[in-house]
Formats: sequence, C-alpha cells, structure tokens
Amino acid sequence: MVLQIMRLQLILFWAVVAAMTKPTWAQAKLGCQDKCGSVSIPYPFGMTDNCYYNEGFLITCNETFNPPKPFLQESNIDIINISINGQLHVMQYVAYDCYDQFGRREHQTKPWISFENLKVSSTENKFIAIGCDTYATIRGYQNDKSYESGCMSICSSIDYISNGSCSGIGCCQISIPEGLHSIDVAVNSYYNHTKVWNFSPCSYAFVMEEDKFNFSSANLSDLRNVTELPMVIDWAIGNVTCEVAKTSSEYACMKNSMCYNVQNGAGYGCRCLEGYKGNAYLPHGCQGTHQLSYKSGIYIYKKTHTQIYNL
Ligand SMILES: *[C@@H]1O[C@H](CO)[C@@H](O)[C@H](O)[C@H]1NC(C)=O
Ligand SMILES: *[C@@H]1O[C@H](CO)[C@@H](O)[C@H](O)[C@H]1NC(C)=O
Ligand SMILES: *[C@@H]1O[C@H](CO)[C@@H](O)[C@H](O)[C@H]1NC(C)=O
Ligand SMILES: *[C@@H]1O[C@H](CO)[C@@H](O)[C@H](O)[C@H]1NC(C)=O
Ligand SMILES: *[C@@H]1O[C@H](CO)[C@@H](O)[C@H](O)[C@H]1NC(C)=O
Ligand SMILES: *[C@@H]1O[C@H](CO)[C@@H](O)[C@H](O)[C@H]1NC(C)=O
Ligand SMILES: *[C@@H]1O[C@H](CO)[C@@H](O)[C@H](O)[C@H]1NC(C)=O
Ligand SMILES: *[C@@H]1O[C@H](CO)[C@@H](O)[C@H](O)[C@H]1NC(C)=O
Repeated sequence: MVLQIMRLQLILFWAVVAAMTKPTWAQAKLGCQDKCGSVSIPYPFGMTDNCYYNEGFLITCNETFNPPKPFLQESNIDIINISINGQLHVMQYVAYDCYDQFGRREHQTKPWISFENLKVSSTENKFIAIGCDTYATIRGYQNDKSYESGCMSICSSIDYISNGSCSGIGCCQISIPEGLHSIDVAVNSYYNHTKVWNFSPCSYAFVMEEDKFNFSSANLSDLRNVTELPMVIDWAIGNVTCEVAKTSSEYACMKNSMCYNVQNGAGYGCRCLEGYKGNAYLPHGCQGTHQLSYKSGIYIYKKTHTQIYNL
C-alpha cells in the first residue's frame, strides 16, 4: 500500500516535470523576450540590451506589423527563422530592371546587404538571373577583398524555355563563393527588352535558397509582383577559431557543449554534446535528453525505475 502511494506520487511528480520541461530548443536568455511575432529568437540573438551576445546579434522587432516582424540588426532584411545550428532564413530583395513597350525604363532596383558577423551561405544559395535580354552582376566582399561575377541570358521566344531547370535559356545561375559578408546585386539589359517585351518585359536577379527555387517560363512575368525571396545566411561567434576562443573570457560555449569551427568564413559555433539537447550558448542550455525527451510521465517513471533497479 505504502509502495503504491509512493508510485502514484512518483508518477505525478514525473508527469509535472515532463510538463514543465517540454523540449524548447530555441531559448532566449533568462528574463528576455523569446519571440517576435511567430518567430523564436534564441540566444545569442536577442531584441533588447543584455539579451544578445553582441551588436551583431541584435534583432529589431517591429511591432507596427501584425503579427510583429523581426529584422536583422537595424536592416530591412526580415527574418523567417533562426536556427541554433548557425543559420538564418531571411527574405532578401530582388533586383529589377523593367521597361515599357517602347524600351523606356519603368523602374530599376539594386539591392545590397552588408554585415560583420554574418556570411551569405555558399552551399544553400545560388545567384540567379531571369529574363530574355538580361545580364546580371553580383559584387561582394570577402573580408576586405572584393569580388565580382555574374551571368547573362538572351532568348528570342518563350516556346523553348523548359520549366523546372534554370539552364541558360531565360534563366541563368551561378554558385557564390564562401565568406561573403557583403553583396550587391544589379541587373541590366542589352536592348531595353524591345525585342522580347511581349513575353519578357523585365530582368530580375537575386540570391536565393536553391531548394526553394523552381524555374518556370511564367517567372519571366510573374516575378514582377515579387519583391523578396528566401535566402540563407550563416552566422558564427567572433572571427577566431575554437582553439583561440577557448582561452578568452568571451568564450560562448557553455556547460555540456562543444565548439566547432565554421566552414563559411571565420568564427566558431557551439553545439550540445552527445546525449544533450538545447541551446549551447546558454549557461544551462544543454539538457540531458533522457530527462527531456519522454513526453509521458508514466514512461519516465518506468525508465527511472529501471535505471534505479539497474544500479
Ligand atoms: C517599422 O516598420 C514601419 C513600416 O515599414 C516603419 O515605418 C518603421 O520605421 C519601423 N520601425 C522600426 C523601429 O524600425
Ligand atoms: C525553423 O527552424 C526549425 C529548426 O531548424 C524548424 O523545426 C522549423 O520548422 C522552422 N520553422 C519555419 C517556419 O521554417
Ligand atoms: C534604353 O533605355 C535607356 C534608359 O531609359 C536609354 O537611355 C537608352 O537610350 C535606351 N536604349 C535603347 C537601345 O533603346
Ligand atoms: C511552363 O509552365 C507554365 C506555367 O507555369 C506554362 O504556362 C507553360 O506552358 C509551361 N511550359 C512548358 C514548355 O511546359
Ligand atoms: C517544379 O515545378 C513543376 C511545375 O511547374 C513541377 O512539375 C515540378 O515537380 C517542380 N519541381 C520541384 C523540384 O519542385
Ligand atoms: C515561378 O513560377 C512558378 C510557376 O508559376 C511559381 O510556382 C513560382 O513561385 C515562381 N517563382 C518565383 C520565384 O516566384
Ligand atoms: C501583379 O499584381 C497586379 C495587381 O497587384 C495584377 O494586376 C497583375 O496582373 C500582376 N502581374 C502578374 C504578372 O502577376
Ligand atoms: C576580429 O574581431 C575583432 C573584434 O570584433 C576586431 O577588432 C578585429 O578587427 C577582427 N579581425 C578580423 C581579421 O576581422
């Protein structure tokens, strides 16, 4: 009887613990707001003083939108998602060059971005240009060294544009190099689209998450109504390696975590050790998975009991 009550208490206890410690990997620093609208803002990112690791991780939450929208630092780049594994999913502006049927320019934009602690992901993005009278350039900086590249696309009819592949007819794409912390994108035409205006009145260029892009001949005109497209950014702490960072008072990896050097540019990241999950940048961020992962209190009770028994 006594044993049964104890069991019941244990079950209740673990059920409560399980409810309290439901896995939330994307935690903010203690006492800090952890969401802007529907987007979680995990540390090292934060929205107010003392809530972010340094200025590079500042997120500006603009409450005039409904729901509120998070922006990177003080830019106009809005954030879709922050992954604690070193990536940011953002929306980035498209470069346009549009003409009327007489070859007069209607509008042109040349978007650019520049950051210190962030790099455009070279593995997840491509530089893409669309149009049938189009040449596009991307310029950027890798530390203090500049680079420039681009691609062109000329075509005379919409009929031979194949959907699904960006292969050079109506669409061209190139890879981008590692380590770019600043880019600007520009697009232009040879003949002001006069020869192709009825099916291709504009040229467009942008850096976009490759997996989300599926070219179609419809894009020659429907992109006109699209101002932003998804892009992936890599983030890292500082600009030194783990070996150097470990000796510094600003070392960002906390208990039960390990440090890794990033692939894209300088800096390092932290991740929880095997058997732990959570936010490795917070003091108690990495939690043992056996405590956290079982949703049912009864299951935890049994597990705990077995463990005790095994001892
Ligand atoms: C929020 O967004 C509005 C509309 O785009 C803009 O006018 C305003 O300056 C923004 N506020 C902040 C704090 O960035
Ligand atoms: C954001 O990223 C997390 C982890 O990478 C993922 O589980 C979640 O589905 C993503 N959310 C959106 C809206 O993309
Ligand atoms: C193309 O447009 C530009 C800007 O509107 C203009 O200066 C130029 O003369 C035009 N060229 C042709 C070939 O129509
Ligand atoms: C490509 O897709 C568009 C609509 O997205 C369609 O109108 C067009 O006929 C397709 N072209 C080919 C060659 O299948
Ligand atoms: C790309 O879009 C076409 C229709 O426009 C569709 O048939 C095809 O499955 C899509 N491919 C991918 C990889 O999404
Ligand atoms: C390109 O066209 C396809 C088919 O109409 C559409 O699903 C897709 O969203 C367009 N791509 C972009 C980047 O707008
Ligand atoms: C762009 O949007 C306008 C209205 O906002 C619409 O009239 C037009 O047909 C759209 N153009 C394309 C190419 O989708
Ligand atoms: C590394 O970061 C420090 C502090 O932010 C800065 O002073 C230094 O110039 C950076 N070094 C390089 C090579 O970017």
